[in-house]
Amino acid sequence: MESNNTHKSFIVRETADGKFKRSVEDKALPVLGKDEVIVKVAYAALNYKDALSAHGHKGITKEYPHTPGVDAAGVVVQSSNELYTEGDEVIVTSYDFGMNTSGGFQEYIKVPASWPVHLPEGLSLEESMVLGTGGFTAALSLFKMEENKQDPTMGPILVTGSTGGVGSMAVSILAKRGYEVIASTGKKSEHAYLKELGATEIIDRTEVDDQSGRPLLRYKWAGAIDTVGGNTLATAIKATNRNGNIAVCGLVASPEISTTVYPFILNGVNLLGIETAETPREWRIKIWELLSSEWKPDNLNKIKKVISLNELDSYISLMLEGKSKGRVIVKM
Ligand SMILES: NC(=O)c1ccc[n+]([C@@H]2O[C@H](COP(=O)([O-])OP(=O)(O)OC[C@H]3O[C@@H](n4cnc5c(N)ncnc54)[C@H](OP(=O)(O)O)[C@@H]3O)[C@@H](O)[C@H]2O)c1
Repeated sequence: MESNNTHKSFIVRETADGKFKRSVEDKALPVLGKDEVIVKVAYAALNYKDALSAHGHKGITKEYPHTPGVDAAGVVVQSSNELYTEGDEVIVTSYDFGMNTSGGFQEYIKVPASWPVHLPEGLSLEESMVLGTGGFTAALSLFKMEENKQDPTMGPILVTGSTGGVGSMAVSILAKRGYEVIASTGKKSEHAYLKELGATEIIDRTEVDDQSGRPLLRYKWAGAIDTVGGNTLATAIKATNRNGNIAVCGLVASPEISTTVYPFILNGVNLLGIETAETPREWRIKIWELLSSEWKPDNLNKIKKVISLNELDSYISLMLEGKSKGRVIVKM
């Protein structure tokens, strides 16, 4: 631990006029309590939720000042629980981490001992954050789809918001698992990037925004991992082949969908809810094991952008403008 009892922390403060101000400040070091661990953060990662929290989204973070960051990885420096000893390398994600508790955008974090998982063999701390909640969400999506009998012979999988954190990971993991991937994006400049990740076909996001009002469309894919919501998800549902699975992950366009029951009762399409924060510990360990071995994307280096804590605010703005690409990770 630092000798002067402070550490660097990215802090969001609410000002008197209801605005939110972000800066890197010196903050008092955490003090260990019962059944807790203190971790020296090596890397954190930026997720869409952090961008919302950093801009005062009260549905994510109720009270400010606050340090966001739902993903962190580092080394245990203190523990009051037998699960962890000093020197253990751990990943901290999920639960209320970084939302209504102090998150990963700082040098030291204190969390309940039930939250971290040990870094699995086959992953470095940096790689674990390139994956982070984005990779975990993509992997959990595919895990649930395959439990529901999705397989590559059924046909291609649509990924929406494909250049984003979850989307990039979904493209890579699906390609690694032998699926054909149709990547939908709004970024014309990033087609080469998506090809490198393993997309077999790239379509403009307007092609997943059906305005015909028809309840069903010609089949275009055998399933989908959707990060966008709204009419994108509604369109994905209408054009999914029989018995296909759609993992519903996100809402960057809209939390609302308008659909009929026809895709479900005529085509047997399945909507799978993806919720990572409260994923049971046994599942979390299983998913991290897969991500460190047979599901580990080959191209993590291409998906990462490594920044410093001082650069974080500008990357948060890019993310809220829908301009983020891949996974942004913060090296402490
Ligand atoms: N369910 C869970 O447990 C869970 C976990 C993690 C994240 N999420 C959610 O998943 C979503 C994506 O998170 P992320 O971290 O991947 O965010 P991100 O890195 O910002 O990626 C979102 C991507 O969506 C596309 N996009 C942005 N605005 C859009 C719009 N208005 N219409 C259509 N597409 C748009 C963009 O990709 P293109 O330019 O390529 O289209 C953008 O890069 C968020 O809603 C987040 O809250 C959910």
